[in-house]
Amino acid sequence: MNQELNTPMDTKKTKTLLFVCLGNICRSPSAEAVMNAVIKKANLSSKFICDSAGIIGNHEGNSADSRMRLHAARRSYDLTSISRQFRYKTDFDKFDLIIGMDDQNIADLQSQARHEADLNKIVKMTDYCSNYKHYTTVPDPYYGGEEGFELVLDLLEDACDGLLNHLNGKI
Ligand code: 4NP
Repeated sequence: MNQELNTPMDTKKTKTLLFVCLGNICRSPSAEAVMNAVIKKANLSSKFICDSAGIIGNHEGNSADSRMRLHAARRSYDLTSISRQFRYKTDFDKFDLIIGMDDQNIADLQSQARHEADLNKIVKMTDYCSNYKHYTTVPDPYYGGEEGFELVLDLLEDACDGLLNHLNGKI
């Protein structure tokens, strides 16, 4: 018998994760890429599907911000995601967990929730940090300097590790 198929992990369905920020060109496409890398490293790619979206649709159809892509590439993350707006009518049903980057993202997502079950899916990325516990948001790097993009990646690497540890016991 295949030992891997004998674990509790294989008894439940794939987990679907949606990362959400304001524009879906900096933080959430990075979160999607970092989480995919963390999942791949743990050999769990068949157990998760990750996607990302923005509260606003201003950048719909665009690649991630070139500065964010550059900083991510330096850490070997390839940001391939194309920006799209969060769609409450389908995304709340399609995803098991909806992970906002800051308090405004969380408030905006909560305001679009249709009922309690939707609300229960909304969490904040920094809740899963262990090394960066003192951060309560992934700060928006869009109007800032290079250090902001590095901080985004530092926080996401920490939080995605924590998120996978959290979910690992639940799949
Ligand atoms: P993100 O950054 O939410 O991390 O993708 C931003 C991108 C664009 C804008 C704001 C934040 N914007 O105002 O266009």
